[in-house]
Amino acid sequence: PTGGGTAPVLVLVGPPGSGKSTVGRLLADRLGVAFRDTDADIERLAGKPIPEIFIDEGEPHFRELEVRAVREAAGTHDGVLALGGGAVLAEATRTLLAGLRVVYLEVALGDAVKRVGLDAPRPLLAVNPRAAWRELMEARRPLYLEVATVVIDTEGRTPEQVADAALEAL
Ligand code: S3P
Repeated sequence: PTGGGTAPVLVLVGPPGSGKSTVGRLLADRLGVAFRDTDADIERLAGKPIPEIFIDEGEPHFRELEVRAVREAAGTHDGVLALGGGAVLAEATRTLLAGLRVVYLEVALGDAVKRVGLDAPRPLLAVNPRAAWRELMEARRPLYLEVATVVIDTEGRTPEQVADAALEAL
């Protein structure tokens, strides 16, 4: 980024259930910087939880808020930044990520479903999560790879081990 503003020291991307928030917090702790999550920023911006934004305003509106949230965070946050799983769908977001250190957390279908099943509700995975997840990944994997400077396979690794691998790879 230009203009003398701050930029994230590192950005985490990957599908729901890849561990972006958990690993992001660990990485922020180890690097001694703050953690920020654009999903939380969007909820603050909208004044409601993400599932409600999807229901009340629809996914396109959510994606607009998401581009705004990523632009804001990428320009002002100098810590670790986790993006929502679908953030890479927006070309504007992919452009914002150019030149930043971006870690893509790869996750196997089974692990992701296990994690998101226990976690906060994801509107896009509410019905038939396995099929939905497979479809999401077909569309998104090329985009994650496009923005990533580092790819970490999370399979069989604890969040601590994933954080170690990310730090080693950076
Ligand atoms: C989404 C992932 C969610 C959240 C929204 C849409 C997606 O974030 O942004 O529900 O399209 O994959 P997480 O990846 O943090 O679950």
